[in-house]
Amino acid sequence: NEIKIFSPATVANVSCGFDVLGFCLDSVGDEMVIRKTDKKGIYLTKIENFDLPYEAKLNVAGVSALAMYETLDLDFGFEIEIYKNIKPGSGIGSSAASAVGSVFGMNELLGKPFNKTQLTEFAIKGEALASKCEHADNLAPALFGGFTLVKSVSPLKILEIPSPDDLYATIIHPQIEIKTSESRAVLPKEVALSDAIEQWANLGSLVHALHTNDYNLISDSLKDVIVEPHRSQLIPHFNDVKQAVLGAGALGAGISGSGPSIFSLSKGQETANNVKEAMQSIYLNSGIKFDIHVSKIN
Ligand code: HSE
Repeated sequence: NEIKIFSPATVANVSCGFDVLGFCLDSVGDEMVIRKTDKKGIYLTKIENFDLPYEAKLNVAGVSALAMYETLDLDFGFEIEIYKNIKPGSGIGSSAASAVGSVFGMNELLGKPFNKTQLTEFAIKGEALASKCEHADNLAPALFGGFTLVKSVSPLKILEIPSPDDLYATIIHPQIEIKTSESRAVLPKEVALSDAIEQWANLGSLVHALHTNDYNLISDSLKDVIVEPHRSQLIPHFNDVKQAVLGAGALGAGISGSGPSIFSLSKGQETANNVKEAMQSIYLNSGIKFDIHVSKIN
């Protein structure tokens, strides 16, 4: 009647895949407890570490839970406890972890009536409460693990993308908050055809490189000519961090989701740890507080 789950953080966009590509960070995430209760409905009963709304329809985890619950005719309800480790507004899928966790846990308690794509559909409703638009590039990797590509939102189609065995991510989260809705507002409504061509060439080649374990091609494809030039201005020392990680042997780096976190990919744990040193040296000198993680991509 009760399940305790780990709901992982995720990196969306991955430079050239704005709103479609993402990967899962196995080492960082929220914990949640989902419990059946005699009373019908969805109830947030505990939220630790951050001040988030308890009313289900105002809470990301509550909204996705309600989206699922309303499709069912149950004579019982669910209680949700959230032990939030992913800071809201950090750029590593905080709202997605909440949105996914509630529906994943409920589905387990119900005997798995829904598949992962259907769970993503419910979670999109919760994510939309936070980011004011329906996208699934954090939700899909949180549910499926590894790399995913959201081929379309309506109808929802998610592709699981393989990745090389020795691929590691290093993520730094400078402690400034950037709301997804705000960092979407700085983006242009139209892009130049020449930029679009470069971007889809890089996205295609990144996906190919992930399939073929081609680390050099991963490195050559991790570029974003459309979004990063606008959003990087919101992130202090972004260009310095990028230079430093490339110097430390990373394959590439970019903004994680809508920022301010910065992700970097590396071949091997040792390089990922060197990249960690390089990233933190920039922020240590600047006085900005930060969290930093290394995670293997599975
Ligand atoms: N693709 C989204 C964005 C992810 O970059 O705005 C953040 O939720």
